Amino acid sequence: MDIDNRTVLIVGGTSGIGLGLARRFAAAGGTVIVGGRSAARVAGQASNLETVEIDVTDPDSVARARDEVLAGHPDLDLVVTMSGVMQTEDLRDPAHFAAAATTIDVNLLGTIRVIDAFTPHLVELGRGTIMTVTSGIAFLPFPLMPSYAASKAGVHAYTEALRAQLRGTGVEVTELVPPAVATAGQEKVNPAALPLESFLDEVVGVISANPTPHEILVKGVQMHRWAERDGTYAALVESRSRSLENLPGRS
Ligand SMILES: NC(=O)c1ccc[n+]([C@@H]2O[C@H](COP(=O)([O-])OP(=O)(O)OC[C@H]3O[C@@H](n4cnc5c(N)ncnc54)[C@H](OP(=O)(O)O)[C@@H]3O)[C@@H](O)[C@H]2O)c1
Repeated sequence: MDIDNRTVLIVGGTSGIGLGLARRFAAAGGTVIVGGRSAARVAGQASNLETVEIDVTDPDSVARARDEVLAGHPDLDLVVTMSGVMQTEDLRDPAHFAAAATTIDVNLLGTIRVIDAFTPHLVELGRGTIMTVTSGIAFLPFPLMPSYAASKAGVHAYTEALRAQLRGTGVEVTELVPPAVATAGQEKVNPAALPLESFLDEVVGVISANPTPHEILVKGVQMHRWAERDGTYAALVESRSRSLENLPGRS
């Protein structure tokens, strides 16, 4: 993908990886709009980014944001579905369901709502890219976050189907698969989390390839992505299950 001078919408671009990626596209000459529920906060901080208020759990909000973005940017040619929440859950306590519902609504249904909103535009344009965002956890579960893993595995499967359905339209579909990155509080709990800027350096290198790879895999996520193929899956799930000791009453 040519990353220069793109017109980019990053839904879930108001913090963390999305905001970092937005800055990279802006630095490459792009026009970049970041979306989220707290877009107003970013508007005051980053003068080279445009913003749009959007809650991906609310279909009316998604439709309003689409209309606003396309009215100002009829040449929009890259949509990134970055919105996501990560929550721990204790599956022995049925009260976890609220976290499960939120996680699926934001991460999986939210992704689908945003893709549905912009696919007709991109297909009519006859070019452009949809970038979904999953996680190494889509491929190698982290038992402390069951619905998160399910949501990201769902986004992976959906992305594969979307790519097949859009073949021949000129619209590319690619999936960003981050490992742990030092954002959203990860930096406090996971010493192995990659510093954001090093992660983005690698990401920009991978997405700049032509054609754009179906999956954007940095080195740090390969062990998760290929665990099943490499025969390391069971041992890794076992060792990742130690995190369950962090649940209240499980030590
Ligand atoms: N950091 C990691 O280790 C890691 C690893 C693998 C995958 N990922 C994925 O990467 C993506 C970004 O994560 P991050 O670490 O950068 O986290 P983050 O800083 O918490 O960013 C999450 C983004 O999602 C947006 N969001 C949450 N709920 C939303 C809603 N209802 N409607 C619209 N936007 C919503 C937030 O915006 P508002 O609050 O403004 O709404 C924010 O911009 C997520 O999909 C995450 O699952 C992260």
